[in-house]
Amino acid sequence: MKTAGGAAGAKRRAGERAAREVEDGFVVGLGTGSTTAYAIEAIGELVADGLEIQGIPTSYQSRQLALEVGIPLTSLDAVENVDLAIDGADQVVDDPDSPAHGALIKGGGAAHTREKLVDAAAGRFVVVADPSKLADRLERSVPLEVLPAAHSVVADRVRDLGGEPSLREAERKDGPIVTDNGNLVLDCEFGPIDDPDELASTLSSVPGVVEHGLFVDLADATYVGTDDGVEAREY
Ligand code: 5RP
Repeated sequence: MKTAGGAAGAKRRAGERAAREVEDGFVVGLGTGSTTAYAIEAIGELVADGLEIQGIPTSYQSRQLALEVGIPLTSLDAVENVDLAIDGADQVVDDPDSPAHGALIKGGGAAHTREKLVDAAAGRFVVVADPSKLADRLERSVPLEVLPAAHSVVADRVRDLGGEPSLREAERKDGPIVTDNGNLVLDCEFGPIDDPDELASTLSSVPGVVEHGLFVDLADATYVGTDDGVEAREY
């Protein structure tokens, strides 16, 4: 078992806590990112101990890791329901008095389109996070997965809406990142987002936007790993 302190330790504790929700016979959505990776590893250990489940990966990354740790895989169109989805987040509204309590920004790994598909299909969607992800309101940039031919017209529309778009650049490839679906990503700064639900509806209506990274009213719970334990938020 890995030992990790700081943010890595918090992520591990959150991921392992979420993995404890997996029961025999479950179909489990496997999110993307470093926090969910701890959950996938923990689920792999349960499978090695005899738990019978099927996983639905949300990205190339989560598929590869699930295969490495021995989780049998399936797909959304091959199952009747998804019992549980476990996924990370880039920001989580953590103000019980806010109407947006539990709303998320996702897409830091450019996997939010498939993540939303699987997370929204799940009977229960559990977010795993470390404390750096918590905020009183959403204010990080919102990733938009866009059709390649649409990136400039979508960027113009985002500017009309008061946002500042930038095409996400690859780190070890010249040019933009290309998603697992063959699309591009615009990271859009809107400043503090007072009404994520309204912005989500507006962004969904822009032609060329495949999916945006606002997840509103989707999460059922968040597990926040801390220095020495896990705090649970139920919505
Ligand atoms: C990928 C995501 C990730 O879940 C999100 O970026 C959080 O990642 P990490 O757990 O590595 O901080 O939305 O598209």
